[in-house]
Amino acid sequence: MKLLVLPVLILLLTTVAVAQESRIVWQPVASGVWSAKIGTPEQMDLLKAAGGKPRLDALEKLGAAELPAALKDSGFQINRGQVFLRFPLREQEELFGFGLNFQNVRQRGRTMTLHVDHYGGKDNGRTHAPVPFYVSNAGYGVLVNSARYITVYAGTGLRRDSATPPKIKDRNTDRTWEAQPVSDSVEMLVPADGVEVFLFAGRSPMEVVQRYNLFNGGGVLPPKWGLGFTHRMPTLSTADDIRREVAAFAEHGFPLDFIGLEPGWQTKSYPCSFDWDKGRFPDPEAFAREMLQKGVRLNLWLNPYISPDSPIYNAVKPYTATHNVWNGLVPDFTLDSVQRAYKDFFLSRHIGIGVSGYKIDEVDGYDQWLWPDVARFPSGLDGEQMRQVYGLMLQRLTAEWFHQRNQRTYGLVRGSNAGASALPYVIYNDYYDHRDFITALVNSSFAGVLWTPEVRASKSGEEWLRRMQSVCFSPMAMLNAWSDGTKPWTFKEVESQVREVDLLRMQLLPYIYTTFAQYHFEGKPPVRAMYLVDDFVQAAQAATSKLDSTANPYAVAAKQGIKDQFMLGDNLLVAPMFAGQTSRKVYLPAGNWYDFYSGKLAGSGQVIDITPGLDRIPLYVKDGGLIPMIPAAMRAPRSEDILPLEVRHYGMKESSFNLYDDDGETFDYENGEFTWLALQVKKDASGNLKGEAALPKSARYRDIKWTLMTAGR
Ligand code: GAL
Repeated sequence: MKLLVLPVLILLLTTVAVAQESRIVWQPVASGVWSAKIGTPEQMDLLKAAGGKPRLDALEKLGAAELPAALKDSGFQINRGQVFLRFPLREQEELFGFGLNFQNVRQRGRTMTLHVDHYGGKDNGRTHAPVPFYVSNAGYGVLVNSARYITVYAGTGLRRDSATPPKIKDRNTDRTWEAQPVSDSVEMLVPADGVEVFLFAGRSPMEVVQRYNLFNGGGVLPPKWGLGFTHRMPTLSTADDIRREVAAFAEHGFPLDFIGLEPGWQTKSYPCSFDWDKGRFPDPEAFAREMLQKGVRLNLWLNPYISPDSPIYNAVKPYTATHNVWNGLVPDFTLDSVQRAYKDFFLSRHIGIGVSGYKIDEVDGYDQWLWPDVARFPSGLDGEQMRQVYGLMLQRLTAEWFHQRNQRTYGLVRGSNAGASALPYVIYNDYYDHRDFITALVNSSFAGVLWTPEVRASKSGEEWLRRMQSVCFSPMAMLNAWSDGTKPWTFKEVESQVREVDLLRMQLLPYIYTTFAQYHFEGKPPVRAMYLVDDFVQAAQAATSKLDSTANPYAVAAKQGIKDQFMLGDNLLVAPMFAGQTSRKVYLPAGNWYDFYSGKLAGSGQVIDITPGLDRIPLYVKDGGLIPMIPAAMRAPRSEDILPLEVRHYGMKESSFNLYDDDGETFDYENGEFTWLALQVKKDASGNLKGEAALPKSARYRDIKWTLMTAGR
């Protein structure tokens, strides 16, 4: 008998040493959204830093939803300053998200540590927006609202006590042996005493994403000029250089809505003075006025680290970190005194004289440039927390300054995080792989952020054109010539094709603006991964695991992850081409799809092989897709412009499209100052398709011309 006591004691001790898991208790917080507070969550978190206000009305409109059954049995443990989270995962589930990844769209089976950083060429969690939010195709999404470096096991771990243990296989003899046996959970480690977690329901991945975006305030609605073309000047450009550049755009017939001033507009940069260099810009007020009169807006580059030469240096100094960045003070933006000093100065010296936006640089990484994690800030936040929220805070503050003036802005930022949907900023970086840039575009749709695959330089005209084509189908059509001084027409051999795609972007502005309105009002991102398209998802889910690239293409698609094509809005499928590529595959969702340029049938729920030639980016429209367009112009429409509208109809189906419009500049839309114009194409008595729309007196469009791209051919 005595012999038994020792093993029993050992067993008991080991059981005690492994902390008990507790069940996560979900509480409803909005329609289709639940939260759980685990332990004692920290004062600072991502959603607080981003400052979005849930759009409860819009969430309500999505309809009621049940607590996703799959996540009822989620658990946590708190252990020595760490929270462990476990969310169940079933065998067939696909996972998307976990921030702005550049190489993988499907995240199941990956591990990462989410850490705001400059992207370093690997999807390891270090990125410009390491958003701790993931979407499952089983109809839910999970957000871990912590400003900590969260380690994620996205379906890699397998519990000893799993209720669904995979079959054990013998590698010696079984060819179906897998290196990664099917995991039964997503697990995360949050280095904090507590954390708040959110759960979003959805009948489809799109609905999950909609709820996430709406919970964060709905997507941003940029000013119309923000969706035109933008060009960034070489860093030491003067006011006269910019005048010449603006004139050159006009001479070459290239559109231009806003121009970016890089570090040299300031007296000092790295660290920054935030003050105009009077040598290069003798009269900033007059210059800004002159540009506005020409219809060209100004965007100012900055990083937030203050030079001793800055007029606000002394005011901010008491409220800065223990460590400097590039010899500049690092302000604690959670503090009122810092916010006030920046606001007063920026309003009087920039925004007040006509500057329309900012490019907020260097708020992401690298570790060797930014403050270390051991840094401390006067508010009590530590270096790690600050790293996770710094970009968010600057986006929110600057956005508020513009909002208080009832003026929309649209700018650039290099560091962001969860909760950013409503913030008027687009992420960019210095990395320059064109394919990875498109993958980031696809992934941005799961993360509530916007991304631009900016164009800077190219080795050939072909590469130049391919990059220009894809940037024109992104949230910001931008040439960033800060170091190379390139122009859209630099490669003469493709100048006319570049002009054509720039002008096509301008023609498509009513459609693009409406896709952003959907982002704002319904939470649907403007650029969408194929996995967010309902018909496509169904087809992908119906696939068996047997891979066959001709008979069962969706299985192949689902396996590899579709990362080189995406939807822009409801109707347009974009399939970018890359330098050196002459043909490619395009995965068409269910139903008929038509070539945008010719209206010809391209395929139906299948994979097509295309050899499109260099001149144009492949674009497809779904059956019944309506694309509203305006005449190509050098600037985006102003609120007083009344324009003729061409509505293109593709395919043979009756259909409708709600065209959004407002003044394009102010926040009056928040008080109901907007219109949704119902465009309809119906069959008449003899079966011919006919367009109709009742134009209200107040409409900014007149003379609708209906073009039946397929039926009229
Ligand atoms: C980089 C930024 C570039 C450019 C440059 C100017 O950090 O990513 O786009 O602005 O700074 O110094």
